[in-house]
Amino acid sequence: MQVIGGEYWLVPSVEQAAELAAEQAGSQPDYLSQVLGPAEYFATGRDALFAVLQALPQPTVWLPDLVCLSLVTACRQAGKQVCSYAVGADLLPRDIPLTMDAANAVIVVIHYFGVYNPLLPAWAGQRGLTVLSDVTHLLFDAAALQACNQASDYVFASLRKSGPWPDGGLLASRRQALPQADLPGRLDFVALRAAGLLLRGLSASQGFADNENLAWLREAESLLDRAPAGAHACSYLSRQLLAGWAPQQQLAPMAVNFQTLRQGLPASCQLLNAAASYPLHALCAFASSAQRDQVRSRLAAAGCFAPIHWPVAGLPVVNTLASCILSLPCDARYRTEDMQRILSVIQDETR
Ligand SMILES: Cc1ncc(COP(=O)(O)O)c(C=O)c1O
Repeated sequence: MQVIGGEYWLVPSVEQAAELAAEQAGSQPDYLSQVLGPAEYFATGRDALFAVLQALPQPTVWLPDLVCLSLVTACRQAGKQVCSYAVGADLLPRDIPLTMDAANAVIVVIHYFGVYNPLLPAWAGQRGLTVLSDVTHLLFDAAALQACNQASDYVFASLRKSGPWPDGGLLASRRQALPQADLPGRLDFVALRAAGLLLRGLSASQGFADNENLAWLREAESLLDRAPAGAHACSYLSRQLLAGWAPQQQLAPMAVNFQTLRQGLPASCQLLNAAASYPLHALCAFASSAQRDQVRSRLAAAGCFAPIHWPVAGLPVVNTLASCILSLPCDARYRTEDMQRILSVIQDETR
């Protein structure tokens, strides 16, 4: 059975590497440099956030309450006090505390699941707050990415969710000097993850005959979660793979897949990122936590892996959406019939 969802995979070949080297010899700037200009590459998103926070004097960081624990931890490890603001079902902030003090605070704005939010950076910028935009989910939308970079002091992203490279954390700025990735790469994490992605590629080439890759990839993430954030550099392997990244070819299938999900989801299942152009996931809110969990189990039994963004354990504040949301994969690896497979499970389960 063809599996839907989960990590990308690596299928390196000497021929591909030679082709890549030949393309790079023509020295076109890579996609991210073309869109963003000056950038620094760290091992992970949390490392990029940690590095910029370490360089900023403000003692407080405002984070949205729909967030992954690794970002909260990175802020604390950079010595900052973490405050939370609430995010609503439109993925926009609700009740922004007007007590944010520009001299002493920075704000992190997450542009969720392909939906660019121009209002909050503009509002915060007018008040003199330093704005850090998390563009992890915006990487395929070049126009939004560019606008976001103009409107923010810094943009940062976790790169490994967007393609088959083992690590990568981006930090870019049009206005500010960038802190350097002056610690060595995360060799243990990269080694485990690269092996996991390679195994996944081999398994995928034989109809997902083997799941050993899951153990390697899980262990890689767990190793990362146990390690402190730091200004670790991105691996050479990922830099080379990223230099050949051409997301333009993926945009059309992503848009078609997203549209298929948008049109086929039952009314009882709310699509929160309906305004997105090129998301990797459709973010759905189900009627209850029990229904979400049931749909997720049924999807898994049908070979579709739908993650929950994000587990709430350890978070200082929990967003009410967190108990009923599920992310449906709709990236360019899949076709309309894959989206139909997802939809038929959901339609059946929510009837
Ligand atoms: C939106 C977003 N930003 C940042 C991060 C942190 O990235 P990393 O795991 O590369 O440190 C994550 C991790 O899940 C994320 O989902």
